Amino acid sequence: MSPLPNADAYPKTIMLRDGIRVELRPLEEGDKIRLLRFFERVPEADRYFLKENVTAPEVIQSWVTRIDFERVIPIVAVVDDQIVGDATLHRSRAPARHHVGDIRVVVEPEYREKGLGRRLIRELLDIAVELGLHKASFELVAQREKAAIVAAESVGFQEVARLDGWVRDIWGNYQDLVVLELPLKEHKEWWRF
Ligand SMILES: CC(C)(COP(=O)(O)OP(=O)(O)OC[C@H]1O[C@@H](n2cnc3c(N)ncnc32)[C@H](O)[C@@H]1OP(=O)(O)O)[C@@H](O)C(=O)NCCC(=O)NCCS
Repeated sequence: MSPLPNADAYPKTIMLRDGIRVELRPLEEGDKIRLLRFFERVPEADRYFLKENVTAPEVIQSWVTRIDFERVIPIVAVVDDQIVGDATLHRSRAPARHHVGDIRVVVEPEYREKGLGRRLIRELLDIAVELGLHKASFELVAQREKAAIVAAESVGFQEVARLDGWVRDIWGNYQDLVVLELPLKEHKEWWRF
């Protein structure tokens, strides 16, 4: 398994807009219960569009026991021994797509709109550059994941595609899937926005 680039930099302590101190660090094997409890605190309506069943213990078990930084880089935000945010950078197994990565991010409702989501996105973008990736992307549901779209755009992501009716919501309505992209540059422009 290849190591996380700049692993020595973790844990990092950051301060949110309201002064709360948060520790950022890679997910660890001992995080199973913390991560499960975190996703249980995320509203079902937010979880519905995630790509996996994040409240299934077997899903979380496989995440914490099969940590492979070549495939997925998971960074968690921790306050008082509780996970309050989870951000992941996903890379394809296919060598042909190894130069791009897809980002996913979830923040616990109580900790939203304090700058944590954007900070986690920036953290993953820095890691992506260290890994030599050329581009990062987000796939988000146009109407339902508006906060994530605004957060991604706030660090420089731009919409490059819109797939009409690709996502079905809880009520059976079809919604558009938006693809946002950010070219990754050494001078880390996402910190300027
Ligand atoms: C998307 C999400 C991670 C954002 O986390 P957050 O910690 O609230 O984000 P931030 O506080 O860093 O906000 C960054 C920017 O996004 C925008 N934003 C955040 N929440 C918003 C909302 N509810 N409505 C409109 N804009 C919003 C703001 O412009 C904000 O910039 P500002 O703080 O300068 O005003 C969080 O809302 C979430 O977990 N949503 C549910 C899960 C989800 O949809 N994930 C995406 C799928 S991968």
